Amino acid sequence: MSDKTNANVTNASPRKILITSALPYANGPIHLGHLVEYIQTDIWARFQKMRGHQCTYVCADDAHGTPIMLRAQAEGITPEELIAKSSQDHQADFAGFNIAFDHYHSTNSPENEAFACYIYNQLKEKGHISRKTIKQFYDPEKEMFLPDRFIKGTCPKCKAEDQYGDNCEVCGATYTPTELIDPKSVVSGATPIEKETDHLFFELAHFEEMLKNWTHQGHLQSQIANKLDEWFEAGLRGWDISRDAPYFGFQIPGETDKYFYVWLDAPVGYMASFKAYCDKSGLNFDEYWQAGSEAELYHFIGKDIIYFHALFWPAMLAGAGFRTPDAIYAHGFLTVDGQKMSKSRGTFIMAKTYLDHLNPEYLRYYFAAKLSSRIDDIDLNLEDFAQRVNSDLVGKVVNIASRCAGFVVKKFDGQLSSNWSDEAQSLYESFANESEMIAQLYEQRDYGQAMREIMALADRANEYIAETAPWVLAKQEGKEAELHESVSLGINLFRVLMTYLAPVIPETAEKAKAFLNIDDWQWNDVATPLKQHSINKFNALLTRLEMDQIDKMLEDSKKTLTAQAPAASESKQPAADLDPLAEEISIDDFAKIDLRVAKILNAEAVPEANKLLKLTLDIGFEQRQVFAGIKSAYEPEQLIGKMTVMVANLKPRKMRFGMSEGMVLAAGPGGSDLFVLSPDEGAQPGMRVK
Ligand code: MSP
Ligand code: ZN
Repeated sequence: MSDKTNANVTNASPRKILITSALPYANGPIHLGHLVEYIQTDIWARFQKMRGHQCTYVCADDAHGTPIMLRAQAEGITPEELIAKSSQDHQADFAGFNIAFDHYHSTNSPENEAFACYIYNQLKEKGHISRKTIKQFYDPEKEMFLPDRFIKGTCPKCKAEDQYGDNCEVCGATYTPTELIDPKSVVSGATPIEKETDHLFFELAHFEEMLKNWTHQGHLQSQIANKLDEWFEAGLRGWDISRDAPYFGFQIPGETDKYFYVWLDAPVGYMASFKAYCDKSGLNFDEYWQAGSEAELYHFIGKDIIYFHALFWPAMLAGAGFRTPDAIYAHGFLTVDGQKMSKSRGTFIMAKTYLDHLNPEYLRYYFAAKLSSRIDDIDLNLEDFAQRVNSDLVGKVVNIASRCAGFVVKKFDGQLSSNWSDEAQSLYESFANESEMIAQLYEQRDYGQAMREIMALADRANEYIAETAPWVLAKQEGKEAELHESVSLGINLFRVLMTYLAPVIPETAEKAKAFLNIDDWQWNDVATPLKQHSINKFNALLTRLEMDQIDKMLEDSKKTLTAQAPAASESKQPAADLDPLAEEISIDDFAKIDLRVAKILNAEAVPEANKLLKLTLDIGFEQRQVFAGIKSAYEPEQLIGKMTVMVANLKPRKMRFGMSEGMVLAAGPGGSDLFVLSPDEGAQPGMRVK
């Protein structure tokens, strides 16, 4: 009934593979940036499974830490309630994007507590934990120690105001919160006091030799190994792993009122999730985690959390007698249309908002087409996105099936032919023979290259159909056999392409299976063509992506994110002082206008416009670009560093030179008589003007 081609079907004995993605924080929703990682990992896991390996993909919510504790307080619920809700939302979003975890857990779980304590006790027993008295900022009103990020003040270096306690976003300086000028608690606004406290440290320096070796044994991408060399040169310092009460986390054994710092038990969550999975699936935990394990362990992460995964984590594992990871695979950050995701532009897109408008398979394919094994950032260019999805998936791949299916069903009762000419056979084989090459690209995470190879095959399949022209054959007498071969081969080529694409677009692949009337497929099944096999009626597998769906999503995204500050209607330029009074408005009308204190970080002339200056404004929680008609009154340099007031919820306007995301307040009749308004001293960027 079927015959084997000479495609390479060698497949060494199944590997045991455990794969993880970083654990998302439980205090925020999943957005498209996160999805770069979960999609990248999910594709790899699905690919390994199709290759017949014993592959497990686990993840969990990262549920501990001060931000989660404070967030729950602010919402008037317990942290447990907050993280339960969050876990539900996260899992719904992941399911929506067809991310198929074998298990999804929480770091706030008994398994995790047991492993975190075990690892800590091991490290302590072996002398890798030390105790030091440190001085830390303390909020006397809230009666709690403050993490660096919960203290703001003036940068000691450039004197920029309103900077976080760990680094300055204006000049890039890093420092300790004690060095800040005029520090304030973000929680209560109180001036923090310094207070002594005992903290526990993990002595990373004890692992210097081990880490220096490990980081150069092929476990890391070269860009990362180089970065680590810089860190080694700077010297490995002890890592502060304890936090004082109140804290949402695990109590440290043998201590009173001390908790593990969230980053201590977060990676342990990988083990905990896998353990919970072993308990339900019967897999053997030790086989995967004991020192010298033959099983493979891979962590997919973003480039922002390399330090934790490439230094602390292997050291913790080695110190506690476990195996270390085979590799850490880091990826870059997502930009949208070449810029950081922005709330005002609507490009800070939540998973849920995307799913309300678009098919998840589109994004999976687009990310795949953009991903490589490197850690470069990847850009979601919205026009390119629509165009790629339409031309590749709809125009090339799905089109093959839709061009052939009707003939098979109507003319041949759904049966694929069994007699192929040598030519047909060899075209099929040329497709099937690419399977190892494409598999290697997936294995190396060169998904972009894999997609290009697959699309090149799709082009060839379409050429074949165009050359044999089944729609012409169908109208001619005595061409039945030729027609049957043409459309049967077309369907078979489609099947090969869908097999290659299945890790990327699993939902579409499922629909293709139903159409092709097959239960399941493994990677190597492409070696055997479908001959004398009956297929089902073809239903559209994927529809075109229309630009207006994207526009609607962006609109929706803006609304969701500015829900607290409802969008005001388009407002006019501030009236000159001698203008008659404008129409009376209600207090509610006024309340719609979100006026904010803004700091002018940069100002520059727009050469093509004789009235405009381009301003970069800091409004505390984000930066804005605004084009202001004040060029006649100010030299750009005069404005840099100045505080002013802006309308922060004005609908962004597309101008010839870029987006204008708000309006700066100025008074005066115009020309050189224009005066930018400034708040009194003490006002901070982002403060609401009432
Ligand atoms: N909770 C930690 C990870 C603990 S792992 C033991 C954390 N959480 S996170 O929610 O901030 O990020 C989860 C993952 O998503 C990280 O790997 C992070 O790099 C990735 N991304 C978050 N935002 C991203 C983009 N904008 N672009 C690409 N990846 C991003 O970090
Ligand atoms: Zn600074």
